[in-house]
Amino acid sequence: MKYSVYRPSLTGNEKKYVDECLDTTWISSKGKFVNEFEQSFAEYIGTKYAVGVCNGTVAIQVAMKALGISEGDEVICPTFTYIASANPITEAGARVVFVDSLKDSWQMNPEDIEKKITSQTRAIMVVHLYGHPCDMERIMKIAQEHNLFVIEDCAEAIGSEYKKRKVGSFGDIACFSFFGNKTITCGEGGMVLTNNSYLHEKILKIKGQGLAKYREYWHDMIGFNYRMTNIQAAIGLAQFEQVDKFIAKKIQIAEWYQKYLKGLPVDFHKAVGDVKHTYWMNSILTESEDVRQSLRDYLKAEGIETCPTFYPIHTMPMYAQKYEKHEVAEDIALRGINLPSYPELEEEDVKFICEKINLSFRN
Ligand SMILES: Cc1ncc(COP(=O)(O)O)c(C=O)c1O
Repeated sequence: MKYSVYRPSLTGNEKKYVDECLDTTWISSKGKFVNEFEQSFAEYIGTKYAVGVCNGTVAIQVAMKALGISEGDEVICPTFTYIASANPITEAGARVVFVDSLKDSWQMNPEDIEKKITSQTRAIMVVHLYGHPCDMERIMKIAQEHNLFVIEDCAEAIGSEYKKRKVGSFGDIACFSFFGNKTITCGEGGMVLTNNSYLHEKILKIKGQGLAKYREYWHDMIGFNYRMTNIQAAIGLAQFEQVDKFIAKKIQIAEWYQKYLKGLPVDFHKAVGDVKHTYWMNSILTESEDVRQSLRDYLKAEGIETCPTFYPIHTMPMYAQKYEKHEVAEDIALRGINLPSYPELEEEDVKFICEKINLSFRN
């Protein structure tokens, strides 16, 4: 493929910092880069604490365990999201209660959240999908009124802002992913953020074998090894140093797509309201599933990779025991396409991709 949907840019201090790990032999989960990455990241998002873990899915699992979500509980979650937002809820023994999305922002619908609250609801899993923030004012108000925890899944929204405040700083716990296709990456990696010192202690224990704080080899709760390595953190810190540059470029790429696709029968996933949309992916909506397929096939033949928007989770076998209809999510899922969206794309590249899209519509 000439253009993939994503590829990381590793031209900063990544190699230098990894070499330092190798030269000093600090390759496991102790070492200066883990602390530096955690501290810089917490400061950037605006929380007191950040704990590095081995990936973003584990970050959500840790959040579930730290909040004590378990059997008999219900957690409200958008159906239009990546599978890893929902599975840790099920793994904790709780029931996932799906909500539909808003047509304009593609984010979870606060009205639907309110409708789905029962006496068993314990938490809301807020997912800032494709880099667009959710309506945090309304969601936090609902959570406060019903005494619910808020977990923010910010895997796709590093640096995104709602009313000038970064996502990940609103809820009880926020989870980030640094997989290879995320805005900053360390290959595999994740981070769990909170402002609550009690939760912070619990998160540290869960990811570190339940180790007691003041006694060696003494474990006072069930924990696991979910640690981030110093090598992962070395790459993560080098990426973090470039985070604002990457985000600015993604926003620029979105502007180029909007400029060169003007006049075509496609809708863009644009920013709605007083938010900073960081365009983790540049996504468009075609008129129908058939148009999407023919456009994707055409682009593939031209060496341009695309991917479809996520399938709604309530339609997948593990979650489809009872019939549910989520009209907006199902519609976006069938018609959406993610276009190449990585920082090394230049205007000429986006123009080329758009020319091919234009040609596909003329054929
Ligand atoms: C919304 C969302 N949540 C969670 C994850 C899980 O992160 P990871 O792949 O690092 O486990 C991802 C990305 O993969 C994601 O897009």
